[in-house]
Amino acid sequence: MAGSNQRSCKEYQGRPMPSKVYRNRCPCSAGASGIGYQISKQLVLNGASAVVIVSRTAAKAQQAINDIRKETGLEDAPLGFVECDFKYLTNLTQGWKISKHQFDTLINCAGITQTQGLLTTSPATVSEILKVNLEVPIELSRQMLKQYFMYGKSPWNDSTGDSRRPSSFCVINISSLLAERGGYGTSIYSTSKAGLTAFTRTLALEGAAIRDKFPALPPFRANVVVPGYVDTPMIEKFSNAQKDKLVAEIPLRRYGKAEEVADAVMFLLKNEYANNTVLNLDGGLSAT
Ligand SMILES: NC(=O)c1ccc[n+]([C@@H]2O[C@H](COP(=O)([O-])OP(=O)(O)OC[C@H]3O[C@@H](n4cnc5c(N)ncnc54)[C@H](OP(=O)(O)O)[C@@H]3O)[C@@H](O)[C@H]2O)c1
Repeated sequence: MAGSNQRSCKEYQGRPMPSKVYRNRCPCSAGASGIGYQISKQLVLNGASAVVIVSRTAAKAQQAINDIRKETGLEDAPLGFVECDFKYLTNLTQGWKISKHQFDTLINCAGITQTQGLLTTSPATVSEILKVNLEVPIELSRQMLKQYFMYGKSPWNDSTGDSRRPSSFCVINISSLLAERGGYGTSIYSTSKAGLTAFTRTLALEGAAIRDKFPALPPFRANVVVPGYVDTPMIEKFSNAQKDKLVAEIPLRRYGKAEEVADAVMFLLKNEYANNTVLNLDGGLSAT
């Protein structure tokens, strides 16, 4: 997994700004591409006071920031980034300084797919998929729980000068329908995504246990979105024949759009009763 290639992660470059928020600080893994990009954009449009895009490439993250600013017309949109390759992280607490920054929202969206059956999937690839899709989201969620606990002991003032309390702390994990449905050549991907759903359940309970210790805390919530097939770079590699076959299986006869998944995430962030919600967004594919 990690080994000699370990990279250091550049410090968050953002400019947090005061704004009317329902969310304060939101690290969004995969925020520079596909679904994560649309989530970052929606967070900005919905008044988040700092959105931190996580990407393996600084230039890609910066491009995403420029694009979001252009597309939303919000030139001062409070976006920053962390350059970070989850594959090489051995110690997130040291490696990713994001834990220094207080955040009340975490979007775990980074994911890699598997392209072969188990017989030809190497142990190194197995480790890589589990690391990026499951182990890192778990570690980031631990950081989030830690922040929640610390907030219980001593609520922080937002360094933007906005001292309003977050209405809740919320983790959103992006799973996949393949966590629930078989697919040739997806054994490890499916395992990682099923793990993420199972993990979310316990996270919701452990957040509640912390609040029992500090009743003045705002609630802690953890939720999962379960997309079917979404039109993003992730499925670009499929052959036309594969794409046609998949579309024919989806009752709505089309792929989902990244914007539609981002909408589901916004719903879960805004709806303060959503906790351990597993939101399927698959055009009906799960019914087949
Ligand atoms: N598209 C679908 O049909 C579909 C269906 C169900 C679930 N999902 C899930 O949705 C999430 C987003 O995928 P997408 O469809 O938007 O595809 P995408 O555009 O290919 O995005 C994948 C993202 O994962 C990030 N990533 C990959 N390896 C990483 C690593 N080692 N370290 C840090 N970040 C890494 C990439 O970040 P950078 O390239 O910026 O470094 C990229 O932003 C994934 O978790 C995926 O499993 C997708």
